[in-house]
Amino acid sequence: MTYPYQIKTLQQYHGAYKLSEENPEAFWASIADHFIWHKKWDKVLDWNFTEPKVEWFKGGQLNITENCIDRHLATRGEEPALIWEPNNPEERTRVITYNRLHKRVCQVAQMLTNLGVKKGDRVCIYMGMVPELTYAILGCARIGAVHSVIFGGFSAQSIADRLEDAKAEYIITCDGAYRGNKDIPLKSVIDDALIGNKLVKKVIVYTRTRTPISMIKGRDLWWEDEMEHAEQQVEKEGKVSFPAMPMEAEDPLFILYTSGSTGKPKGVVHTVAGYMVWTTYTFVNVFQYQPGQVHFCTADIGWITGHSYIVYGPLSAGGTSLMFEGIPTWPDAGRFWDIIDKHKVAILYTAPTAIRSLMGFGLDYVKDKDLSSLKVLGSVGEPINEEAWQWYFKNIGKERCPIVDTWWQTETGGIMISNLAGVTPHKPVYATLPLPGVHPILVDENGNEITGNSVSGNLCIKHPWPGIIRTTYGDHERCRTNYFSTYPNLYFTGDGCRRDEEGNYRITGRVDDVLNVSGHRIGTAEVENAINMHSGVVESAVVGYPHDIKGQGIYAYVIYEGSHHEENLTRQDILQTVSRIIGPIAKPDKIQFVTGLPKTRSGKIMRRILRKIAEGETGNIGDISTLLDPNVVEEIINGVI
Ligand code: WT7
Repeated sequence: MTYPYQIKTLQQYHGAYKLSEENPEAFWASIADHFIWHKKWDKVLDWNFTEPKVEWFKGGQLNITENCIDRHLATRGEEPALIWEPNNPEERTRVITYNRLHKRVCQVAQMLTNLGVKKGDRVCIYMGMVPELTYAILGCARIGAVHSVIFGGFSAQSIADRLEDAKAEYIITCDGAYRGNKDIPLKSVIDDALIGNKLVKKVIVYTRTRTPISMIKGRDLWWEDEMEHAEQQVEKEGKVSFPAMPMEAEDPLFILYTSGSTGKPKGVVHTVAGYMVWTTYTFVNVFQYQPGQVHFCTADIGWITGHSYIVYGPLSAGGTSLMFEGIPTWPDAGRFWDIIDKHKVAILYTAPTAIRSLMGFGLDYVKDKDLSSLKVLGSVGEPINEEAWQWYFKNIGKERCPIVDTWWQTETGGIMISNLAGVTPHKPVYATLPLPGVHPILVDENGNEITGNSVSGNLCIKHPWPGIIRTTYGDHERCRTNYFSTYPNLYFTGDGCRRDEEGNYRITGRVDDVLNVSGHRIGTAEVENAINMHSGVVESAVVGYPHDIKGQGIYAYVIYEGSHHEENLTRQDILQTVSRIIGPIAKPDKIQFVTGLPKTRSGKIMRRILRKIAEGETGNIGDISTLLDPNVVEEIINGVI
């Protein structure tokens, strides 16, 4: 497999960028030509950001799984598509060739068809990091069902909300999942999520942990049984096949829920052709992937990073993607380095929070590991700090591997701003330059463009790229107000950004009420809603504060009126409530009990003040004269924990 659209020199980068500005349609058509289409498109791009409407490759027909699997069979059939590293290093690694992946995905497609799943139906997937998760995703895509993967750390309530929003009728799950020394009881969480649900018809359960579970007659089915049945159907005269459903370019591929500044997560919708072209193009260019290399993205497939850079991007490029079931610190803090050594990993793509956490364990865990196979290091999910960048560069990359600091979002589908490994220069703590096809602009509060270099502003994008969000599921108006209405004719990212003297971009963090905790996006309103569910809590306000490992920690100010509890017990109860309502990732790091919150006369909580207090900047609170009761500030400062 070769990649004619792989940019190999700085000069080519500038040339491609210029073409993408001057003639985006020609630029993208020449890239899209290198994919398998049932029918070529009639029009490369049709768009306006007012509705918004964005249509790429309209009139084209294709199936993404033929691009991710079938097209590689003749040349790479016996090459590994997936390498699976289990949670427990003593358990056997699984290597899944393209031929094997083809067979399994055909089986899933057959199994889902047998159960009545049709094109456009929503299938919710709640599994641990096992190869069957990838089969499930691609099996949906093969028949045109819309998958919605939910991260295994989300609670029953979060799942119930997502199931309802997506109107999902099918679920694929596992009995349980292994993560470090924990067994996560996935099926029992699903059972709780389904109490009161009237839409879900079938729950397919893959056996991973052999945790005892209950199976409901008529609703719950074993993956193993259904897959065995499907195997006989897809295999005829030694040939395996299940026809891939021809999809319209703009048919939905998946829904992935993400948090915003309101209490309710949004179902970000990506469509087949644009997302495929975008993830493949960015994968091949940013990481400078070469066929045969092992690509190790440490994200969970429950997040967009896993969708784009474990599953779709690498497989569409005919690559080898390493899927890791466990966590970086188990059985010890050398696990990533062991995996790199064992599987001769060429590209490591991880999050700053993981780097900072492993950095804290010291170099003993790194020193005897052979990391010489590494060629490129990647960072994603949050701003990387200078110290972590240098540690990563020096101790993992041994000063010979470029670091790609990749800025993007669930809504952008793939990487937007990043250096291209070894092609465009890296610069510590800078995402650096936009990819050809990405046209960022900085604007001030009023939406006026901030031109020139050495400036800061709110980051927007002025022209669509193939991976842009198409809608928020079931509520297009929400998509418009969230991303396209703050500044007319621009996509607003929600991020603040600096452009340096050379035009490099550095993303400084969210400018809305969204937190980034360990690279995961969490809405403050969601956490507040969860805390407020606890009986005794009158009101709460949640803000972020700098956290050494997580990047941002969660600080909750809580008005509590239940005197019969001890404070510490109440804290525990609140944490448990948040875990139950959202999931453990949203648990506040600090809870401060207060008797009032700083509010304006119109009743709006002044988060700016609470943020300053949480950051420890109590000497620099700013103007509090507009508060309903300015005394409350003093009281909160005195009670800081
Ligand atoms: C938010 C998106 C991108 C996939 C994982 C997170 C922050 C992401 C970087 C980076 C600085 C970054 C932004 C963005 N972010 N990458 N390289 N440098 N900040 O996806 O959950 O949709 O979160 O993560 O604030 O808006 P997400």
